[in-house]
Amino acid sequence: MSDIAKLQVGDNSYEFPLIKGTENEVAIDIKNLRDVTNGIITIDPGYKNSGSCESAITFLDGEKGVLRYRGYPIEELAEKADFLEVSYALIFGNLPTQEELDKFHTDIRSHAIVDDDVRKIIEAFPRNAHPMGVLSSLTSALTAFNPSSVNVDSKEEMYASIVRIMAKFPVLVAWTMRKKKGMHLNYGRNTLGYIENLMYMMFKKPNEDFEVNPIIKNALHKLLILHADHEQNCSTSTVRIVGSSHAGLFASLSAGISALWGPLHGGANQAVLEMLEAIQADGGDTAKYMAKAKDKNDPFRLMGFGHRVYKNFDPRAKIIKATADEVLNDLGVDDPILNIARALEKEALSDPYFVERKLYPNVDFYSGIIYRAMGIPVEMFTVMFALGRLPGWIAQWKEMRLNKEPIGRPRQIYIGETQRPFVEIEKR
Ligand code: CMC
Repeated sequence: MSDIAKLQVGDNSYEFPLIKGTENEVAIDIKNLRDVTNGIITIDPGYKNSGSCESAITFLDGEKGVLRYRGYPIEELAEKADFLEVSYALIFGNLPTQEELDKFHTDIRSHAIVDDDVRKIIEAFPRNAHPMGVLSSLTSALTAFNPSSVNVDSKEEMYASIVRIMAKFPVLVAWTMRKKKGMHLNYGRNTLGYIENLMYMMFKKPNEDFEVNPIIKNALHKLLILHADHEQNCSTSTVRIVGSSHAGLFASLSAGISALWGPLHGGANQAVLEMLEAIQADGGDTAKYMAKAKDKNDPFRLMGFGHRVYKNFDPRAKIIKATADEVLNDLGVDDPILNIARALEKEALSDPYFVERKLYPNVDFYSGIIYRAMGIPVEMFTVMFALGRLPGWIAQWKEMRLNKEPIGRPRQIYIGETQRPFVEIEKR
């Protein structure tokens, strides 16, 4: 294949170089399109065909169902690694040695306290506030307690801000849940592992000793690893674009949390469970809901199905489905909702509407069932997704700043009124 693309606009022809990635993905480099064409731009709502950056963090092939972080296959990471190792690999490029991992964890532990005034902020929220709104606000509030934006030319400052947020975010996640449940806000124990400590902060009751349930611990590692990065999705692109204005790390993350909240993105895990509960309450008639999902006059969509990039299967969904079976079995939970989920999946996989549109269960179809079995409230599911995505957002923010990417500022095609005179209010 030639390494140039030709564009013909009327009588004029232009040439643009092709860029190839390490996995042979090809892009047309149109960086100088406006300059050479005298103002022509491209338009691509939803960015279905547009790359926003070159990135060395995550590779995915939606047609083949491949997902790799820093080159490591997701299946192997979910099976063999723990969440902190994967976070390190995403943020710093390689899986850590034991020594590197120990240092990373020790440094995180040294920041595991948040300013006590943050407690006052969370206490002011109503109990029924959605935890994603609370988490986004608290993450933004951290900026107020750590106002200096990170000097990305200083390795030390960059590292300090990374370990700081890796330490404080689980505290905010746990407090968000405890606030919802009306439980007092506690701190963790620095003698525990990263995930054990999270579990302690989330589940410790004041009148009971705390024991780590290994089934829940292992499932949490897996779920968080599966959510840890997913290249240029809606929330990650948000983090990168907010950070591109040189806004601080915490402010960029707070914007990412808001983007993740929506039901078409991370909010789907809550929406899936609410949908399954509604189907159960309505007598468990899955065929009725399949028909609603296919009816173009009905806004209902089968939540947990379909993906912008996976058009074959979502490799994360495969792992999560097996984990859901294991966890429910090991915990001895017999959840009728799992049967409804299985029935919907079976019907959808053989239904021409779903087959033709390449709509398969995505990562969120089964994750809520696992979180529910762990005793986590439904509204917290997207918060758990945010905790998993944290290292990915950090890695992408860091990459964008170190690459010195320009401020994100798309163009538009204006379709409004052409120039017209101002009319005095009494004459309108
Ligand atoms: N149920 C019924 N029909 C659907 C669904 C669905 N879940 N998803 C897509 N379609 C139809 C859609 O109506 C359209 O049909 P037609 O061509 O006849 O107009 C066709 O499939 C293509 O859909 P699209 O909305 O153009 O595709 P998209 O790539 O813009 O959207 C999506 C991807 C994930 C937003 C969409 O599939 C969806 O809304 N799914 C449900 C929400 C969900 O589970 N989101 C979680 C995504 S995974 C977690 C994450 O990484 O964020």
